Amino acid sequence: MASTLEIRDLHAGVEGKEILKGVNLTLHQGEIHALMGPNGSGKSTLAYVIMGHPQYEVYSGDILLDGESILDMSPDERARAGIFLAFQYPVAIPGVTVAHFLRQAVSAVRGYTAQKNTNGPVGSNLIPLREFRQELNEKMRMLGIDPSFARRYLNDGFSGGEKKRLEILQLAMLRPKFAILDETDSGLDIDAVRAVAEGVKQLVGPDLGVLIITHYQRILNYIEPHYVHVFYDGRIVKSGGPELAHELEAQGYEWIRREFGEPVAHA
Ligand SMILES: Nc1ncnc2c1ncn2[C@@H]1O[C@H](COP(=O)(O)OP(=O)(O)OP(=O)(O)O)[C@@H](O)[C@H]1O
Ligand SMILES: [Mg+2]
Repeated sequence: MASTLEIRDLHAGVEGKEILKGVNLTLHQGEIHALMGPNGSGKSTLAYVIMGHPQYEVYSGDILLDGESILDMSPDERARAGIFLAFQYPVAIPGVTVAHFLRQAVSAVRGYTAQKNTNGPVGSNLIPLREFRQELNEKMRMLGIDPSFARRYLNDGFSGGEKKRLEILQLAMLRPKFAILDETDSGLDIDAVRAVAEGVKQLVGPDLGVLIITHYQRILNYIEPHYVHVFYDGRIVKSGGPELAHELEAQGYEWIRREFGEPVAHA
């Protein structure tokens, strides 16, 4: 049965300042949803709160995976449950190679590290190296990523496009049920947007639900969403089909502002 991720009247923020003001959204595995909205409306905050970033507090409402609240789960528990977030601003970790990082992440998400393996050989709590290598090579080939990437330090000196591609490689390796892509297309040239979008497109299917946060219609030409939502002042104010993205591209957010007013400033 297809999994469901449901966000129910979610109010959340940071240090008592409410940023999310009643978000309602339901994603099913196999669906692609686009989330668009002006700068500072709370889109990344929503992504962080779904992932369980410790900086954000949930004031009320709920996030349910297949009907069970995930609010008490840590970010790594949420990852193991099948939720993935590609960051708007991926961090660099000099000293940790892409291959090492991905092997750790894949092992954690697939439950290898959870196994008690006190008398096994060192590294036995990781996915077997050969199996991992094979899968990594396959996915890198599929996404058109140069094999030398695996030996480089994570995001260290990576160009914007390379960072975003690495996020998609992580997505491919982790095989989550739900992926949130936060501005995976921002800062990319036209060819890179196409490359990243084609990569995502190869991963979408009945087993993956996607929430793609974007400012531009262009990526949606490649990854056609089933639903488009407009995020404004901490909540979804309008939902529709792909045509809504075209409307936003053509008209901007002025009509949304007229209809819903200026965001209320918080002290
Ligand atoms: N950790 C934080 N501490 C203080 N304020 C925060 C924090 N995180 C988010 N905010 C504030 O919440 C608001 C929403 O920010 P958020 O990054 O979620 O917006 P966004 O919709 O993703 O914007 P953009 O399109 O520019 O990426 C902003 O005013 C931001 O300054
Ligand atoms: Mg953002």
